[in-house]
Amino acid sequence: MSKPFYITTPIYYVNARPHIGHAYTTIACDTIARRHRMLGNDTWFLTGTDEHGQKIERAAQAAGKSPQQFADEVSDAFRSSWERLGLSYDDFIRTTSDRHKQGVQALWRKIRDNGYIYKGTYTGQYCVYDELYVDAAGPGAPCPDCGRPTETVHEENYYFKLSAFEDKLIRLYTEQADFIRPETRRNEVLSFVRGGLRDLSISRSTFSWGIPVPDDPKHVIYVWLDALANYITALGYGQKDTSKFEKYWPADVHMIGKEIVRFHCVYWPAFLMAAGLHLPKSIIAHGWLLFEENKMSKSRGNIVRSETIVDVLGIDALRYFLLREIVFGQDGSFSFDALVQRYNADLANGLGNLASRTLTMINRYFKGEVPYPSQTGRTPADDAIAETGKRTITGCHGLFDQYQFSRALEMAWGMVAAVDKYIVENEPWSLGEKQDEESRSRLATVLYTSAEALRIVTALAHPAMPEATAQIWAQLGLGEIKKFDLSQLQWGQLRLGTKLGEVQAVFPRADKSAVERMHKMEEQKNGGAPVAAAPLATPAAQAAVKPEPTAGARPATTIPEGKISIDDFAKVELRVAQVKTAERVKGADKLLRLEVDLGTEVRQLVAGIAEAYTPESLIGRKVVIVANLAPRKLRGLESNGMVVAASPEGGKPVLASFLEDVPVGTRLK
Ligand code: ME8
Ligand code: MG
Repeated sequence: MSKPFYITTPIYYVNARPHIGHAYTTIACDTIARRHRMLGNDTWFLTGTDEHGQKIERAAQAAGKSPQQFADEVSDAFRSSWERLGLSYDDFIRTTSDRHKQGVQALWRKIRDNGYIYKGTYTGQYCVYDELYVDAAGPGAPCPDCGRPTETVHEENYYFKLSAFEDKLIRLYTEQADFIRPETRRNEVLSFVRGGLRDLSISRSTFSWGIPVPDDPKHVIYVWLDALANYITALGYGQKDTSKFEKYWPADVHMIGKEIVRFHCVYWPAFLMAAGLHLPKSIIAHGWLLFEENKMSKSRGNIVRSETIVDVLGIDALRYFLLREIVFGQDGSFSFDALVQRYNADLANGLGNLASRTLTMINRYFKGEVPYPSQTGRTPADDAIAETGKRTITGCHGLFDQYQFSRALEMAWGMVAAVDKYIVENEPWSLGEKQDEESRSRLATVLYTSAEALRIVTALAHPAMPEATAQIWAQLGLGEIKKFDLSQLQWGQLRLGTKLGEVQAVFPRADKSAVERMHKMEEQKNGGAPVAAAPLATPAAQAAVKPEPTAGARPATTIPEGKISIDDFAKVELRVAQVKTAERVKGADKLLRLEVDLGTEVRQLVAGIAEAYTPESLIGRKVVIVANLAPRKLRGLESNGMVVAASPEGGKPVLASFLEDVPVGTRLK
């Protein structure tokens, strides 16, 4: 019987649409799940959406939708994004589904009947963003986790006796050292619990978007108790058919981001202990994907969507980048430039090139059949590659087992580099020109060795990059890679005479336009038309160019009314420009025609600043312009941008300028 293996992602909030931060966790889990299936384990991979709580209720309200309708739409968006990425999850749990509600209520009853729930009054601070009760002092005090202002709640609530589990939890962390990984997170949790645990409020009565407390429906169950329970409700806990629960629980891995460690490592095991259930075997907290040094997040609005990358470079490019670039447990940065660079270096020129040159030469010199290495005349270089192959197999298994994706891939790509060097040094193309026996047998050895190394890397990388590796495997004439038993992988299994499949390039090189195309696609998805510069527009500037109204179809976010996201701001391209020419516009008292240098081009602008500035005084002056406004015609003159100025009430506009010298073309952000 094969070993059961159960892995979960967090269930994602439906307050906004999926981005590559969510994809990162889900892809990491998908990689682990695929690897375990390939090792022959009976694998169950769960993901889903977290749909209750005040945060969602408010996001729905802001979008003018019912919470259920809103949750349906965003949950669908997650699911279709995962489908588009070809993720191999076995189940998708929604917390608004009946099966989940039933399971959560069963868990509540169990904990209550075991004596760990009591009624009390809570007065204190609550962070709606984190859905977290905090120790912050006083009304409006900032949340110690995220810094947002907290809200004071005063309610009669149900409490969970968290304090009763302090010692047990400490014992868990110390006796089972790999319960929380990496170690830094474990130490944080340990010191948090050692600092003392207070009982936890686990119901709310001031809003209704949640699962009713059994036998007291005025209350809804605290969203984190609701959400954490997904890991067992999805297996049938508290429902009719509990066979999956019996088979797969406890989970082997809960994979999460580092910001939700406390919920998973303190609350969740305590809830399970209280219910008398087994604890998950390990909780793995990875770092954050950063975009220009900030956590990529929907509330910051600095997100990148997977689809953009997948459309331009393919699924494997996104997977490889995320797994290779982010060191397990640490934060890592995303940028389109870095993505394309890695794609070209490691995939197009790396694995892709190794595959195509090796297979093409086998086609050319051996009629598409894998040649057998000669037993005589082996060189130390051939043996070194075989040794590297053996070491890579053991090393990669070990690193993947520790979820060290980046190091595992680094090791596998070390082998790609070694084989590339081997090919260059052994010049199979020169050997192929010669007809003598010795050259033929040397050529056979070099190409066999290269093909076998390619096979090893392909097998090891398959869980991380399922598409391209499946193609290379088929091109090697080995059939369906999914059917290969990864636990049996060894150097030297490639058989003499294996007939190659049709050889095709797997990773075409990406050119510079790939980066631009991805940027463009993101802009379009973020709303399209140039955004209104309303807060920046001065009367003077407005006289020059009237801002376009904002495009309507924006994705719903939790941004409060009247505020804009950083993403919105980023759409306004503010740049330093230098005035080259300035003249009055005939028949218009307020207008000046300017030609400004942006470093890369000279533009004509029409600005309503004639009452404040003479044309002469502006020549050579550096100004700030909105560079990406749609062109407008004023008095028959085309204006390509807008000059930014302060406009005191009833006074004349004052141009924005700098005390320090700033190069022409510099962007303001
Ligand atoms: O916290 N970098 O949901 P959530 C890396 N519903 N990972 C990121 C990321 C980033 N920039 N952004 C998101 C919740 N993630 C709760 C979880 S579980 C019982 C309930 C990933 O929508 C990462 O896995 O805020 C993080 O922990 C998760 O998405 C948070 O998703
Ligand atoms: Mg979050």
